[in-house]
Order: sequence, then structure tokens, then C-alpha cells
Amino acid sequence: MEKKIFDVKEFARVARRAVAEGTVLLKNDKNALPIQAGANIALFGRSQFNYYKSGTGSGGMVNTSYVMGVREALLEDKRFTLNETLKATYDEWIKDHPFNTGSGWASEPWFQEEMEISAEFAAEVSKSADIAVILIGRTAGEDQDNSNTKGSYLLTDQEEEMIANVTKAFDKTVVLLNTGNIMDMSWVSKYNPEAVAYIWQGGQEGGLGALDVLSGDVAPSGRLTDTIACSVEDYPSDANFGGDKVNVQQEDIYVGYRYFETFAKDKVLYPFGFGLTYSEFDVAVKDFGAESVAEVDTDGKRAADFEENSIVVTVTITNTGSFKGQNSVLLYVSKPQGRLGNPARELVAFAKTKELMPGESQDLTMEVSSYQMSSYDDSGVTGHKSAYVMEEGEYVFYVGGDVRSAVRAGSYANEELVVVEQLSEALAPVESFDRMKPVALSNGEFEVSYEKVPTATITPDERRAANLPAERPNGEDKGLKLVDVYDNKCTMEEFVAQLSDEDLACIVRGEGMSSPKVTPGCGGAFGGVTDSLLAKGIPVGCCSDGPSGIRMDSGKKAFAMPNGTCLACAFNMELTEELYNWEGLELRKNKIDVLLGPGMNLHRHPLNGRNFEYFSEDPYVTGMNAAAQLRGMHKYNVTGTIKHFALNTQETGRHTVEHVASERAIREIYLKGFEIAVKEGGAHAVMTTYGSFNGYYTSSNYDLVTTVLRDEWGFEGVIMTDWWAKGGYTGQGEISNMAAIVRAQNDLYMVAFNALENSNNDNTMAALADGTLTRGELMKCAANICKFVMEKPVFNRYIERGNELDIELSGEADEEELAYDKIISCPIGDDGAGSVDPAVIDTKRNATNMIFVEIRERVNHKFTMEVRANAKSSLAQIPLSIFVDNKLSKMLTLTGDDTQWQTVEVDIPVPFINFFIKLYFAQDGMEIRNIRVAEE
Ligand code: BGC
Repeated sequence: MEKKIFDVKEFARVARRAVAEGTVLLKNDKNALPIQAGANIALFGRSQFNYYKSGTGSGGMVNTSYVMGVREALLEDKRFTLNETLKATYDEWIKDHPFNTGSGWASEPWFQEEMEISAEFAAEVSKSADIAVILIGRTAGEDQDNSNTKGSYLLTDQEEEMIANVTKAFDKTVVLLNTGNIMDMSWVSKYNPEAVAYIWQGGQEGGLGALDVLSGDVAPSGRLTDTIACSVEDYPSDANFGGDKVNVQQEDIYVGYRYFETFAKDKVLYPFGFGLTYSEFDVAVKDFGAESVAEVDTDGKRAADFEENSIVVTVTITNTGSFKGQNSVLLYVSKPQGRLGNPARELVAFAKTKELMPGESQDLTMEVSSYQMSSYDDSGVTGHKSAYVMEEGEYVFYVGGDVRSAVRAGSYANEELVVVEQLSEALAPVESFDRMKPVALSNGEFEVSYEKVPTATITPDERRAANLPAERPNGEDKGLKLVDVYDNKCTMEEFVAQLSDEDLACIVRGEGMSSPKVTPGCGGAFGGVTDSLLAKGIPVGCCSDGPSGIRMDSGKKAFAMPNGTCLACAFNMELTEELYNWEGLELRKNKIDVLLGPGMNLHRHPLNGRNFEYFSEDPYVTGMNAAAQLRGMHKYNVTGTIKHFALNTQETGRHTVEHVASERAIREIYLKGFEIAVKEGGAHAVMTTYGSFNGYYTSSNYDLVTTVLRDEWGFEGVIMTDWWAKGGYTGQGEISNMAAIVRAQNDLYMVAFNALENSNNDNTMAALADGTLTRGELMKCAANICKFVMEKPVFNRYIERGNELDIELSGEADEEELAYDKIISCPIGDDGAGSVDPAVIDTKRNATNMIFVEIRERVNHKFTMEVRANAKSSLAQIPLSIFVDNKLSKMLTLTGDDTQWQTVEVDIPVPFINFFIKLYFAQDGMEIRNIRVAEE
């Protein structure tokens, strides 16, 4: 047995470093930062009382034992003092202005009310303070996009007034943005604060990471992974974003900087890759090597001797300033326009230095493959339809920081068109629309023109029909167990062939949320979800949200991670990998096999509510970050689920909206990150989306999950749906349409309450009976699920053989009791029954209620309560955990659709005369009534 120490302090140290490195400094005049030791700091902004550790929704529900915000961090650091006049005023004010949680899932306000800061008050405070630090906070999340309104993307009037008055009164003002993703920045030039930085939502160590930057212990080295435009309307997706029926990708591949650098440079406030630090760095090209690019061989596949790394660039980075620091170097390519048209610049590699002392240098080498330099021809305009090609012409490389200022590093002249990879048409739209394409002007600039998008000549259904696996008769039980596959005594195919139709129908149903079969409060259970499957030696695997840390709705504590955007801005893949080593160990500690993250959707539009869970507007950044996180977790043989596959770019109408995009945009923009995660990160768990694109729900698109993911990329692993997702064609999606999902080879439906009882009333057995689904197809899904479970820690535990980590806790204890305010009594009457007034039960997020019961006789008792959901979204997740004394006895999660009263029952066999019932609500939005304890 291997012994590993789960050292929370060390986990925290790495997370804190990641926040500091991910902090993006946009402005730093008058050397406002770092703040000199001994300074008296006037800390403005009510976010000092509610540091946002993450956004909202499933990706933000991590229970933490502490959150260090900026205020707590500053108070702890003896080098600084907080201005007492200001602090005392805020401390008074906050008493009457508590945090407004909103009323349920997806209804927490994007911002919280500010205290009024008048010009006079700011001036008075400035007399006794050296510098002002203003915190601005924002949240958004699942089911709740941001909006282009004051308090969301824009500053509120009160915030503007505060910034205006503070900047006027203080010689130096620093504005810190505690947000999930970018927001409007037009106010910077209006009020001119000396320093501005995004500190993002940094998880439980966030404030400490920010402190390190403020104090200069760490020089910020973050770079923007998104373009900050002058206004929301400037983003090319704006015209199509936010509807609930259709979302057309008219900008095609011109997402983010690909658009701005090609067509609209003047609409940019801060370009992609922008970020300042406290020092100066010189970046000199030491070596630029361009190997020749090999042709594909005759059958159109990539040649065996294909030179993967066709361009190798080495740069020497020297710290020429007077402050220690790190620098990330980004390498961009400018491809010839050719017949396809291409963005002015595209990111193809990046690397980051270690901490360099003034005068110190470091060489960094970056490699770029021909595949990365190629473009996808979805129309055949180059003569090579459905192929990645490098058109003839000059490929110019630029190196530096932001996309705009990067300087020429060298170029590669490609004399004739090269087919880098011949693929097959897949995923093209059904109907044509106009997409953006550059037209070169005589002055070297580009103008937007539009061309018709090629439409599909083959459908996913036709592909499926042409590739049906051999039909298999109903299996005869040969007594084989999964361990026989593990021990190479039989093949996986032989093993799954003996599963009955019912076994097969059950194994594709994951159970949850909060299944009692796995770690309490987790998202889902899969594999041996019935007795019959268990008897065949298939254990029950466990998965849990993600991506901001481990979510356990039982109230159990876990480590809250910095958000995806913050980690991506750090551009430090080694650090991310190290951070996710810890995450992997924490998963092992909690007996969870799979994290439901990283989130990998693109920041196509700044208002997407889940941008905090995702990394960037750029697919390469996205893919590399996901790959690093996965590598980190793989160290401990647990993994992450890359989600949401694919084209989930808005929360509004996420169940109904159809995204319409060209095959080129799908492959080059939306799938590219996932492709990198599979090929470079060894991803072996994927979650499809709620939504649909080009005619199919992603859950049911054979070309997406089989033709591209498995066959083209070589993915070997399990593919699951999002929770209660629909299957079928766009406009006709049904939760019960399991047959469509299995036909696509999306292995696992997440989630059903009870697999054996077919609680979702799915059509698997009916489709088997009428021949619209085959046993062969179900067997393939079953084999994928079994293989996945067999390779995960749960299997070793199940067969009681080796390789089980024995994890020692160290550092802070993380399993303390759920805190509660008061004890509620449940008096028992002569009839042996008692009740509790529902009005005294606090059902708000994270509320724990302790109900004290003194019974008359030690006989079996039952606790009952009626519950229903009151949420504005049908996909709301509203969990409840019921403990008897300290034992978790029941968990259930309502969805927003559960609007009818239902009874929850907990048997309490022969309890002690006195006992407690503890109700823990992990999210708002549950209504309760008829709470009763009675003798049986
Ligand atoms: C989200 C997923 C999440 C799942 C389980 C869904 O609502 O879209 O990202 O993993 O719930 O909580």
C-alpha cells in the first residue's frame, strides 16, 4: 500500500501561487504597485466582505473550510495596515447590508449593493491613508448569463461614483476586479486609476494570491486569454448571442482576437495576451528552425515519417528590469490567406520562464507542428475537401506577449499546397448561411466579406447505419466476471456478451445525483448500478463536480480551486499540473474516480455565464490547460471529464437553442481544444452538452462522439451526457430518448434516479424490441463503461488488490461538523408523533438545521417531510441531505421540474431516546411542509 500525504497547506500554497501568476495587471502608473511595506491601505468596495471564490451553479458548489478574501489577507499581513476610519465605517454599514443570495438556483445577483462613497468622505479618508485599493466583484454562472447592464458587464452608478471620488482624492488608486471573466473596461480611461488588475475568482486562497501581487512577493505575470473590446457590441458573436432558438456562427472561425486582429483592431482596449509586470523583459529570437513539411502518403493518411515539429523556435528571455519576475512568451503564426482565408494571427505555442532575477536570462523552446499551421477545407476550394491543408505561401511567426505587439521571429515559405491530414466530412450544417471571410485590401488590411457555408452531404444517421457493429444475440451467462477481463482470462467483448438485455439497458444509465451507492453528495454513480451488474463484478464508479474543486452536497469540505480563466491567464502548465496533482489526491481521498471538469467551452462571447469555468477565447490555450489538468490528476489514476462537448457558448436556452456553424469553425475553433485534451492530455472521459447543433442534440450525434472523437482522434474512454440531457434531433429532444444517445455511442446517460426501475422511462428496451437499436451498440457502450471502471481506483478497491493509496491527512482538518445556529425542537405527543413548523427551518443555501427529538419509547421511528422545487430553471439542482445524529441517512436532489409535492422518508430504527435530525440544504429553492417524526 502506497502512503501519500494529503497536505492541505501545500495544496493551498500551489493554489495561491497560481492566483498570483494568473493575476493580469492592465495598468500600473506611478509605480502604484507593488505597495510599499508599512503602507496604510484604504480598502474600498463591499466585495471585501464577500470575495467571490467562484461563479455560481454546479461548478461553484464546493464547500470550503475557509475562503481568504483580499480583506482577510491584508488583515493578516503585518506589513500593512487597513485604514481604520474606512474600515470602521464599512464594518458598521455591512451590518445593515448583508449579502443578498437571491432566492434560489441561478438567481444570486451578479453584484452586491455598494456603500456610498462621497467625494468628501474619500477626501477625508485619503488624509490618513497612503493608497486606495478598490475591490469590484461580480458573479454569474450556470443558467445565468451575464448581461450588458449596470451591475453585470457594466459598473453600477454607485461603483462609478466610488471610483470617480476615490481616484480624485487619492494620489494612488488600485482597482482589483474579482470577477469570473472580463467585464467592460471603458471606465479606466474615464477615471484613470493608477493601477488596474484582474484578480479573477481565485478559490479559497484567492485573496492571498492577490496579496502576493499587491505586496510584490510575486510579480504578476498573467496575460489576458480574451480580448477586451471597447464594448460588448464589438464582439463578432454579439448579433447572434443570447437567443433561445438559434445561434448562428456567422463570424465562423473569427472568434475573439482572430476577428479583432484581422478586421477591427481599433475596437480593442486590451488585446489578447496583454499583461504587465513589475519588471522589463527582453525577448530575443535565438534560433528559428523550419524543417520541411512532409506530404501525406498516397492513401491520404498522414505519412508515417511526418515531421511533427516542423517549426522550432528558441527565444532568450532576459529580465532587463529591476524586479524579479516571470514572463510568458506567446508564439503566433500568420498564415497566407490562400483560397480559404485565415485570421491575421493565431496562437500556436507558449512557454513561461521561471522566476528570473534582474539581469538573469532563460532560453525557451517552442515547437509547432504542420497540423497546427494547417487550415481545414470544408468546401473543397483548395481541391482537397475535408482535409487539413497548408496552402502555399509564407507562414510568418511572431513572438512576444500580446497578439498585437508580438514581433517577427522568422518565416517558412511553403512552396506548394500540402495536405496535412485527409479526413471525412462530418458535422456540417444542414442549411447554408453566410459566414465571414477576409478580403485583402491594397493597404494590407482586411475587410469583412461573406461567403456561403457548404452544407452536409452525409448525416450522422447515415454514418451510423454504415458502421453498425455486428449484431449479438442475447447473452448467455458464462459466469465471467470483470476481473477475468482484468486478468486477461477473457476479452471485454466476451464479458459484455453475457450481459442480458436488461443488464445492458441498466448499465448505460448512471444514477444520481447524490446516489447512496457512492461517496455522499456526489453528482453520479455508474457501472454496477444494479445487483445483477454488481454480481458480475462491476463496481460502482463515482463522479463529482468540478471544475472549481470537488462538490459534495453532503456538506463535506473540499478545496476550492482558482477558476479556469485565472489558471489559463497564468500560462504556466507545470504549475497547473502540480495543482491538479493535489486535486487528484483529494479525489482519491474521497473515493471519487472522476471530476466533472475541466470546462472547455470557448469564451465566444464575454456574457456567457459559465466563462468562469472555461479558459479562453482561444482553442489552443483551452486545450493545453485541460491537458495539463488531466495530466495532473492522472498521476493518481483518477481523471477529469472534459466538458461540454461541444459548442456550448451560452446559458440562455441551453436546452433548446440550436447552434449553427460551419464544419471548419466546428473543427478549428470548437473541437480543437478537446482534440488537444485527448491527444496531449490523454482525456478518457467526456461530457456532451445539453444543447444541439446542426440538427442533432450533441448527446445523439454519431459523427461528434464516434466519427470524430473516437475514430479520428483515437479517444478510448467513456462518454457521458450532461445531467438529464435530451436525446434526439434538434427541436424533438426528449430525456427518455436513450436509444438516440446509445446509437450515437454516447455511452452513459447521466442521470436516472433508479436504473433498474428505469425511472426516466427511457426507450432503450422498446428500441431493442423494435430493432431501432441493436444489442451490438449497447454492448459497445457497456464495454466502454466497464473498461473505464476497471481502470479506475474503485476497481482495485472492489477486487481488493494492490495499488490502493493510503492517504494520510495533514494540514488543516477538513471534515469538521456542519455549523448550525440553533436547535429546533420536535416535541413528541402522546400518540408518539411530533411535528416541526416548516417556517422555522432555514432552507437557504448552505443552511444546516438541527432538530432535536426526544421520543417516548425506543421503537422504530420514521421521519417524513414533503418537498418540492421552486426554481426558475427546469435544470436547477436543489440538494437536501438528511442526517440522523451524524450519520448521513438520505440525500436527494430535486430538479427545477420537481414542482409537485413529494414525500421524503427516513427510517430511524430503534433510536436512542434523544437524537438529532440534521437537514442540510446545499442550494436555495426547496419548499418544505409537513415535517414529522412518528413511531412506526
Ligand atoms: C452541468 C454540468 C454538471 C452537471 C452535474 C449540469 O447542470 O451543466 O456541467 O457537471 O450538471 O452537476
